[in-house]
Amino acid sequence: MGWWKESIDIVKENDPAARTSLEVLLTYPGIKALAAHRLSHFLWKHGFRLLARMHSQFWRFWTQIEIHPGAQIAEGVFIDHGSGLVIGETAIVEKGAMLYHGVTLGGTGKDVGKRHPTVRQGALVSAHSQVIGPIEIGENAKVGAAAVVVSDVPPDVTVVGVPAKVVRVHGKKDEAAISQLEEERESKYYTSKLEEARYESLHSSKL
Ligand SMILES: CC(C)(COP(=O)(O)OP(=O)(O)OC[C@H]1O[C@@H](n2cnc3c(N)ncnc32)[C@H](O)[C@@H]1OP(=O)(O)O)[C@@H](O)C(=O)NCCC(=O)NCCS
Repeated sequence: MGWWKESIDIVKENDPAARTSLEVLLTYPGIKALAAHRLSHFLWKHGFRLLARMHSQFWRFWTQIEIHPGAQIAEGVFIDHGSGLVIGETAIVEKGAMLYHGVTLGGTGKDVGKRHPTVRQGALVSAHSQVIGPIEIGENAKVGAAAVVVSDVPPDVTVVGVPAKVVRVHGKKDEAAISQLEEERESKYYTSKLEEARYESLHSSKL
């Protein structure tokens, strides 16, 4: 009961449209997708990988939310609306994170191993934002709607745009802190692309 209660309560806390627990249980696809993922993830961890994928695809059909069975999702995560949400195999989503419809926690196609993002506690990933690569969305950070995030987002900042840039630090438009954080972020920008550039320059020098 603990998981269900926590999942329902978090919807009621965060969505003013949610009126009763029964309504949340019956009409919120995020709850169903997260509950189904618990079983898919169990099957995945115990070696029933095809069954796990079939199970997650079955629930994708019913909820329009695609969560790879390998993804690690904590209790107390809130998925609102959810349709079009895709969460990749090595993604990690911590307690209290909020994900909206159209979000991708995806890979770049160039990384191996941990290829998908980590969303830390209490972070908000707004509608249709695309978070790409093995990057981290820091604790309580906010990603604006339709942003494309390709490098780490520090805790308690807001990022918006394509590619996403810091626009608020601890809720304030502190220009000095913003430009310092942006410099740091740019040095880490597109790590996998930097690897690729290094690889290409090595190879072109041999031609
Ligand atoms: C980013 C967001 C979370 C607000 O975070 P915040 O820290 O309160 O930021 P603010 O509203 O103060 O906006 C900061 C700046 O970013 C701009 N901004 C906000 N959201 C933006 C977005 N999605 N894209 C581009 N710019 C955006 C603001 O205009 C503001 O610009 P300024 O610095 O020139 O004044 C919010 O605007 C957002 O995108 N929410 C979407 C939530 C969602 O998915 N809802 C779907 C419900 S169905």
